Amino acid sequence: MLREVFSIFTCVAWVGFAIYLSPWMKDISHEVEAYNATTFQYPVPLSTHNEEHTRLVQNLQRSSGKWDSNHPRHRLLTALYGYTSYKDKNLAEVNRWRNLYKNVPKQQRTMLESTVHYTRKLNTIEHLLDTNNELARSIVDHGLWFYNISQSELDEFIKESESQKRSADKTSVSQGMKHFVRDWADEGHEEREQSFGCILKSLAQTSRTTDRPLRVLLPGSGLGRLAHEVDNLGGFDVTMNEWSTYMNLAYRYVSSRSIPNSVPFYPYIDWWSHHATTEDLQRSITFPNQVIRPSSVLLIEGDFTTVFAEHTGQYDILVTLFFIDTARNLVSYLETIHRLLRPGGRWVNLGPLLYGTAPFVQLSLDEIVALSESMGFEFQETDPTVGNITVPGLQVRGLDVAYGRNARGLNKNAYQAQYWEAVKR
Ligand SMILES: C[S@@+](CC[C@H](N)C(=O)[O-])C[C@H]1O[C@@H](n2cnc3c(N)ncnc32)[C@H](O)[C@@H]1O
Repeated sequence: MLREVFSIFTCVAWVGFAIYLSPWMKDISHEVEAYNATTFQYPVPLSTHNEEHTRLVQNLQRSSGKWDSNHPRHRLLTALYGYTSYKDKNLAEVNRWRNLYKNVPKQQRTMLESTVHYTRKLNTIEHLLDTNNELARSIVDHGLWFYNISQSELDEFIKESESQKRSADKTSVSQGMKHFVRDWADEGHEEREQSFGCILKSLAQTSRTTDRPLRVLLPGSGLGRLAHEVDNLGGFDVTMNEWSTYMNLAYRYVSSRSIPNSVPFYPYIDWWSHHATTEDLQRSITFPNQVIRPSSVLLIEGDFTTVFAEHTGQYDILVTLFFIDTARNLVSYLETIHRLLRPGGRWVNLGPLLYGTAPFVQLSLDEIVALSESMGFEFQETDPTVGNITVPGLQVRGLDVAYGRNARGLNKNAYQAQYWEAVKR
């Protein structure tokens, strides 16, 4: 079936502060009560897994829409081509490193070989690539089965792509696979706590009943761990949405795994910067550290701004995690968030403002708040333990959060991610 910082101190202090802050918490719970007292009727029921499956299968038909690089099947085949090419692409990179090494004068190479065994390191990495390639191959095999695409169709697509000099995308494959660490490995635990903590705390405090679960939508859900953590809270009907076919293939794969920590791979071997030891660089991680309950969360694949055309006013809560700055047109994202929420519905955001290469508009935090307010959002007071107010007068808190960090890496880059909760009036 188909259906996709805050500081460590703050995380740890979360429970302790609850007692200290209990008078404040009481205020919040009033707001929560008021929020839920709305006797709102949903316009139509949400899509079911079966309906979403039907929609996906229809969209994937070659005959549905124009056959070009934006066609959903073309995009899916492109990602399958990417995962298929994992070994070739990465071997080519190791070979490039081997060739670069030849520039080192012989005497220096002799020294490197006798001390750090540099050639052996290159050979080891080449060997470890086999394990990652097995994972990439499993993602492809599962994807072919899941989306009902034959190997011969993929082979034909790859042949055609190569003849047209369309190269497989190594970066998107690597990013998709590295997200297994962020979302589904023990190693990503601290990173997840940093960014999920405030969101889950806020949702956990929202009053709800199992007979009338609150509908939550998470666009740009990546590999879906937050969506599943929300689902684990109980009393929420969770939908996630993801546009990237690389992410969706990886998510479909991870959700098919039924044995915890049964998949090993080497997430760090393709980037040799910031390693304290070669052992760190070559270490293996396993996933999933939690088995996904089948069908608990609905994944709706596609572009957030267009795929929910029929869902106006259907969600109680919209959670955007590291998402809004991915917009080509940020105004369209904000309008879509507003449109999809029911009156009184809540938008919870955490993320940086790291604009991509070609956004139509690039807004500062104060501009985003002003624009959102003009659309009818009212920014709410939030838990002070989350972080400090970023701009005096605006109900937005900043917290240091990592994204895709190698826990043992020598680099400690983090974002001042911005947290807010805004209610649709
Ligand atoms: C920075 S990642 C964050 C992923 C996830 N929320 C997390 O925190 O791990 C942003 C995600 O948004 C997805 N995305 C970008 N534009 C999108 C769109 N228009 N509709 C749905 N997803 C989109 C990207 O493919 C990517 O997976």
